[in-house]
Amino acid sequence: MRAIASVNGQCLPLAEARIPALDRGFLFGDAVYEVIRVYRGKPFLFDEHLVRLRRSLEAIHLPYSDLEGLRRRVLRVIHDYGFQEATIYIQITRGAESSRHHVFPEPAVPLEFFYVEEFHDSLEPWRQHGVKVITHPDLRWKRCDIKSTNLLPNVLAAQAARQAGAYEALLYQADGTLLEGSRTSCFGVLDGKLLTAPATPSILPGITRALVLRLAREQGIAVEERVLRINDLPYVAELFLTGTTSEILPIIQVDDRLVGDGRPGPITQRLQQAYRQLVQAL
Ligand code: PDD
Repeated sequence: MRAIASVNGQCLPLAEARIPALDRGFLFGDAVYEVIRVYRGKPFLFDEHLVRLRRSLEAIHLPYSDLEGLRRRVLRVIHDYGFQEATIYIQITRGAESSRHHVFPEPAVPLEFFYVEEFHDSLEPWRQHGVKVITHPDLRWKRCDIKSTNLLPNVLAAQAARQAGAYEALLYQADGTLLEGSRTSCFGVLDGKLLTAPATPSILPGITRALVLRLAREQGIAVEERVLRINDLPYVAELFLTGTTSEILPIIQVDDRLVGDGRPGPITQRLQQAYRQLVQAL
């Protein structure tokens, strides 16, 4: 797949991009990131992603502030290389130093890395027919609102889902609270109300999640930011995932149990339609 990278402003094919071995993103996961979808050459919700990136940077005290320069560099790559359907991956790390120390280097010289990659969307059949998910314990830390590259618990949960023949793992806490997927947000319809976990430090405040909340309110759908619990699962009428590349993905089975009648539900489909319209109007 065609992909162009930029390392501190230097453009090159992604396969040729090099990051120093002592970069703190590599050594410590001392880095934050974003993933943005590009439709027909236009980044979707770019401002929202940059606002979240700024928030993540501030949360880990990473002194990188050139977000407007970053935006220009990303747009230039999309334009100059003629990307149409693509994803943008952005990662800012606390840079490298001459030897490994946990404490921040003084001064820290952040590393700006991004790449734009062609995107072939293979999820459309699943958006129509729905996916299976598993439940999996949430082994993450207490600041999941920071989009950090420390993704080992997410990686292990995603792999467990793959091994179970499922698309995603829904992460639950010891008290049975269902929070989100390993790489997606989660919504459910319970007693006619659309529910999703509130934006606390226990979840990533998904950009797609915020958009879906807005679309639901605009559609007059009753919405509440309230957690679902594992015990609620037998009673949910609909369940779906949201994410930048997943968009809105119906869930038709959790572990061994069907959701509702095992088909994507009407609220999910209405929201998918509203989402599509928004993307088409971009
Ligand atoms: N994942 N929750 C988690 C834990 C995520 O990692 C993501 C995004 C989401 C959805 O957020 P958004 O709607 O802003 O994409 C929710 C990205 C895409 C990834 O890690 O590849």
